Amino acid sequence: MPRLTGRIFLKLITAVLAVLITCLVAVDFMAARIAEGTYVDTLKAELSQKCNILALDEASMLADNKHLIAVARAAVGRISIVRRDGLVLADTEQSPGKMDNHSNRPEIVQALKGGVGFDKRLSTSVGINYLYVAVPSPSGALRLAVPLKEVQTQVNVIRGHLLTATGIAFIPAILLTAFFARWVSRKLGQIIDYAAQLAQGNFQARLNVTGSDELGILGKKLNETGEKLEAMFEQLEREHSELEKLERVRKDFIINVSHELRTPLASIQGYTETLLDGAIEDPVHNIKFLNIISANAARLGSLIADLLTLSRIELGITKFQFASYYVMGLLQGCQESLIPIAAKKQIDLVIEGVPLEADGSYLEVFCDAEAVHQVLSNLLDNAIKYTPQGGRINLQSRVFDHPEHKIPFVEISVRDTGAGIPQEDLPRLFERFYRVDKARSRELGGTGLGLAIVKHMAKAHGGEVGVESAVGSGSRFWFTLPTRDIGLEEIQTLQPELTASASS
Ligand SMILES: Nc1ncnc2c1ncn2[C@@H]1O[C@H](COP(=O)(O)OP(=O)(O)OP(=O)(O)O)[C@@H](O)[C@H]1O
Ligand SMILES: [Mg+2]
Repeated sequence: MPRLTGRIFLKLITAVLAVLITCLVAVDFMAARIAEGTYVDTLKAELSQKCNILALDEASMLADNKHLIAVARAAVGRISIVRRDGLVLADTEQSPGKMDNHSNRPEIVQALKGGVGFDKRLSTSVGINYLYVAVPSPSGALRLAVPLKEVQTQVNVIRGHLLTATGIAFIPAILLTAFFARWVSRKLGQIIDYAAQLAQGNFQARLNVTGSDELGILGKKLNETGEKLEAMFEQLEREHSELEKLERVRKDFIINVSHELRTPLASIQGYTETLLDGAIEDPVHNIKFLNIISANAARLGSLIADLLTLSRIELGITKFQFASYYVMGLLQGCQESLIPIAAKKQIDLVIEGVPLEADGSYLEVFCDAEAVHQVLSNLLDNAIKYTPQGGRINLQSRVFDHPEHKIPFVEISVRDTGAGIPQEDLPRLFERFYRVDKARSRELGGTGLGLAIVKHMAKAHGGEVGVESAVGSGSRFWFTLPTRDIGLEEIQTLQPELTASASS
């Protein structure tokens, strides 16, 4: 990353230096022109003044060549005196006889007309670039010329001064630029580094951004992008593991179903073949075998019926008929239908207390009576199955305020004096096919689907299920129901929730 920061710094500083150098060249160009213009103008004024003074001394200069040369040296220039017809009468650099007629020289033309004449050109007589200034004189025109080389030397001195001054003025600008370029390159370096981390999938990384300038805003936006990517990634991971879990549940379910179906089917097949092989003629065994076949067929039937019930609830096919029912009526209905079975084991099946409203009226729940009957039957069937002879089963109910729905709910529970369930089995008890003691449960005709049906049915009513149990102290299974409609038709359509709980 330092190499990257260095490259950005170099680019920025080069760009700024290029701009500064361009400015310097432009300043030099303009300054050279202005300095030359100003210097030439001043020189012209100075030379024309000198010319006017020299013109007064023209006669002596014409008469004495030495005097002429002395004056020219004092005036620091070349003096020429031209007659009105253009004939050069005197010149300090060339013999007048060798010189052309000067009547067409621009500065002479002007001077002969009575004005001050100027020109810049290469002298044909001496081959030097001159600045010429001519004024009218008694003989015609007096001309003073200085070499342009002199002018250029002076202009270069001025340019030199100007360039030095501008260069010095640029030093703080360059220092400031270097400081700014360092700051920008560092920030850009950090941002590029962060973008690279995002590209590599490190969405937890964050940029340490400060300031509300453009780079600060860019940093904040990148951080927001990082946060969103992290959230999306986590969501995808969650969904992925959820899918994997569902896939495991599906595979387990298929294995469980196949296994559960295979056992009674194998039994039916075995005893049928035995009967066909001749046992049908054996009056001692044939009835016994047929009873076993019948029991296994019944077991297959109830297994398939339970599986269908579960699937229907999960797929939302089950059409519940919701209405208000007295809790007491529901409890009594179930008690009556299971008392004969409980009686076979001398188990007392009693309803404890009468569930009443606060005003004394009978308590009502909003539910499908048949579904609640099935839930209660499953719980009571278990209680009877797993409670030894002479035990007791209590049906209880209580009302409480639901913290989420903000209406009263009723909790119905089945308490038994059975063997109880070990703590480690409690969390998985409502899973499909989960049985504490597989062999014993199968012996009692159980498939392990009863509690899963209880849970799904309670959920379809907007309720919950639970169990409290300890080995040797019996068990208490409970489920809850709303006292009023809480939009159960909609809860019914919440298939994802029900399907998600398919594993339990
Ligand atoms: N009241 C209870 N006392 C002790 N164990 C219980 C009780 N109720 C349920 N269990 C345990 O929970 C397991 C699951 O019960 P669940 O009702 O789902 O299946 P099942 O009774 O074996 O078969 P079925 O599908 O015929 O109901 C049972 O096998 C049993 O081990
Ligand atoms: Mg059961």
